[in-house]
Amino acid sequence: PSPFLTDRHHRQHSYLRISLTERCNLRCLYCMPEEGVELNPKANLLTTHEVQRLAKLFVEEGVNKIRLTGGEPTVRRDLVDIVSSLNELRPKGLRQIGLTSNGISLKRRLDQLIDAGLSHLNLSLDTLDPFKFEFMTRRRGLDAVMQSLDRALELGIESLKINVVVIKGLNDTKDVCDFVELTRKMPVTVRFIEYMPFDGNKWQVKKLVPYQELLKTIMAEYPDFKRFGQKDDPNDTSKHWKVDGFEGSVGFITSMTDNFCGTCNRLRVTADGNLKVCLFGNAEVSLRDAMRQGFLPDTPMFPGSKGPATDEELLQIIGAAVGRKHAKHAGMKDPSELARSINRPMITIGG
Ligand code: GTP
Ligand code: 5AD
Ligand code: SF4
Repeated sequence: PSPFLTDRHHRQHSYLRISLTERCNLRCLYCMPEEGVELNPKANLLTTHEVQRLAKLFVEEGVNKIRLTGGEPTVRRDLVDIVSSLNELRPKGLRQIGLTSNGISLKRRLDQLIDAGLSHLNLSLDTLDPFKFEFMTRRRGLDAVMQSLDRALELGIESLKINVVVIKGLNDTKDVCDFVELTRKMPVTVRFIEYMPFDGNKWQVKKLVPYQELLKTIMAEYPDFKRFGQKDDPNDTSKHWKVDGFEGSVGFITSMTDNFCGTCNRLRVTADGNLKVCLFGNAEVSLRDAMRQGFLPDTPMFPGSKGPATDEELLQIIGAAVGRKHAKHAGMKDPSELARSINRPMITIGG
């Protein structure tokens, strides 16, 4: 285990989430404010080469899973190239190459992406009703998402999940049951996610639908709904359930009512190159600046280091940030403190 990727709570970080863009072709209510967010100029975002350099460095330190996120990662033109270069890291220990996408413009790149090495696709989709889709995403496009889903199944991708953010009064009853019904014939995992607070997303505790409540809603319709097995991956974000005899399964991501911080193995790099050790809070450090400019001469950590950071220097910066990671929820004690804390809008974190 790499000392740089191990924190003081003995968690080893083997899963890196890289956000590739702050842009998106949808405007989901729970992810960004209606007016959008202020975007970084392109020059502030990591280049293809910088993404590749960081990915290699993290894999050499023991990261075995990389997930590309956004914004919407498919709006980035070099996406297939990035996946190809991640694929070249497999001999160094990279086992999973994942993508989290809204599926709107995914279908036409899917063949290429899977050819390039994409193995784990998570599609964000909160309803199967076209009108509600338009309300929740502030755009149209359910058909396009369903086509991406069908194509991914046709191509036999290794893992396919659907992420559903559940919001009280919006998609917490009929839609939830529609998704469970989808698992009757479809070999997918539908995951219901508890709504989390981020800057500008108008989160309120009364909009949160707790895991226990969702279980009741589902069991009323599907009495054979059962928890199964242990987590297949000890660091998994979700709890696994299924209806007996159905092809697919159901997961619950209980970030708010039963957090999984104790087994957190996740680090994040934002599109503008900040390392973010927790989804919450605003503790960030710029790997981009270190790669481009190095350190100011009076940086206490590296007195005299001036040029662009070497890999060793990057690891020192990463290790110091990982070392400061809190045990849970960036050190905040309850949902209301999380909701008041300073973070970023979700669209610039990528989940
Ligand atoms: P798998 O690789 O399939 O396990 O996916 P994942 O759950 O790691 O990632 P995905 O992008 O599909 O995210 C699904 C949901 O889980 C999103 O709402 C994320 O914000 C949430 N999530 C992922 N990682 C974390 C985490 O470290 N902490 C919290 N609180 N939520 C997380
Ligand atoms: N709460 C919970 N999950 C969210 N996502 C986006 N915003 C939120 C939020 N406020 C989910 C999306 C996407 C994943 C990366 O994060 O559904 O699938
Ligand atoms: Fe990890 Fe922070 Fe998410 Fe907890 S809230 S699981 S510590 S990223």
